[in-house]
Amino acid sequence: MRFLKRALFPALMPLLVLLLSACTEIRERVSDRDVGSEGARLYALHCSACHGDFGLGGVGVPLALPDFLDSISNRYIEVTIRTGRPGRVMPPFPRLSDEEVRAIVEYIRSFTHGREPEFPPEPVVGDPKRGERLYAGFCAKCHGASGEGGKGTGLSFSRPRDLSILAPALNNPGYLAAASDQMIKHTLMEGRRGTPMRSFLAKGLSERDIDDLVSYIRSFQHRTPADVAMLQRPVKAVLARRSPYSYERTLERVRRSIAAKGLGILREEFLGEGIVEPGTENARQRVIYFVDLVMLSDGLALDPRMGLFLPCRITVVEQDGVVKLMAANPQQYAALFNNSALNEFGRMLFRTYLSIFEEATLRHEKARCCS
Ligand code: HEC
Ligand code: HEC
Repeated sequence: MRFLKRALFPALMPLLVLLLSACTEIRERVSDRDVGSEGARLYALHCSACHGDFGLGGVGVPLALPDFLDSISNRYIEVTIRTGRPGRVMPPFPRLSDEEVRAIVEYIRSFTHGREPEFPPEPVVGDPKRGERLYAGFCAKCHGASGEGGKGTGLSFSRPRDLSILAPALNNPGYLAAASDQMIKHTLMEGRRGTPMRSFLAKGLSERDIDDLVSYIRSFQHRTPADVAMLQRPVKAVLARRSPYSYERTLERVRRSIAAKGLGILREEFLGEGIVEPGTENARQRVIYFVDLVMLSDGLALDPRMGLFLPCRITVVEQDGVVKLMAANPQQYAALFNNSALNEFGRMLFRTYLSIFEEATLRHEKARCCS
């Protein structure tokens, strides 16, 4: 938890400053009573670190936009709080009481006029096959080929200002449980002013097209992303492997394996360099930093917190005559953030580390046959 806070706050600070002026308007709308309410307190405690004070957005998408609040029911917010968005950063809150959840919903409603919109209960009937084709043409570029959502989180620094809000995942079990057909339809008909999500009626689609799209989005329900279940699996924090080679030879083999993968070594230093007195570093503990530029920019675009474990680093140590390779397991971060894109990236880095460990410690045939 401490790690999360330390990682989150530096990333959020410039954003908060940026949003301060926009904040004033909404702050004026939220009455004094609401600011001091139980809902406000709970929101500040559980939600504002991601969704921003007054719902203006941050790591999480904005919650205060009138068009958003007019396109969803209170139940939508309640179910979202309870189930979260598995694999999409938004955590579930199973421990809040029903009253607490209701208080948060009431507070979020107070960002605008406070009234809950009504939606007809009937499901939308359409042709999901036709919807699939329309989806590929009109929606996939923002919401992903199979509804997995845009890359990154909430409001992003790396996107242009007019496209500053992340497109949410539509294939997410949390979203599909929360949204009714008519709410999805409403969003497609009306769009959400102040976000990149436009009205597709205004963009020339017919109501029938929109019904087909809704039934296609509903069909995602039967295709839960496979890796959602993997998120909470505990992983080893440190990867370690013993090397059969001498310290120097192991270092050389690690360097060669990194180069053979097309990755660049940025620098090498003794463990503790810059911390202990120069010249007294342990010469038998060396850290090799390496990365590939595409990997670096992909990782940072996914989440700026990726900077915590990029560039990659492998430590080679010799202790009591035993030579070992060690690295922090990049998968542990992904599990911490409930973000399946990060999870996939962590797995890719993990495989890279394992493969380097493997190659660097592989014994020659001859050595194996005769030992
Ligand atoms: C760790 C960050 C984080 C926290 C804490 C968090 N959220 Fe979220 N929330 C997100 C992200 C990211 C999304 C967008 C999910 C996506 O991209 O699919 C989201 C989505 C949502 C949505 C759906 C928005 C939409 O456009 O449909 C609601 C509603 C919501 N959060 C409410 C809350 C509430 C209420 C709390 C506190 C009880 C909370 N969140 C806490 C990150 C967070
Ligand atoms: C230019 C990018 C873009 C395109 C194209 C786009 N969307 Fe969106 N969509 C967004 C963004 C951003 C949001 C979040 C708006 C917000 O913050 O309330 C969104 C929200 C939604 C929502 C509400 C989801 C939620 O969690 O609140 C649905 C449903 C949706 N879009 C469906 C579609 C469909 C279907 C299409 C194609 C017909 C489409 N979108 C095209 C960017 C896009």
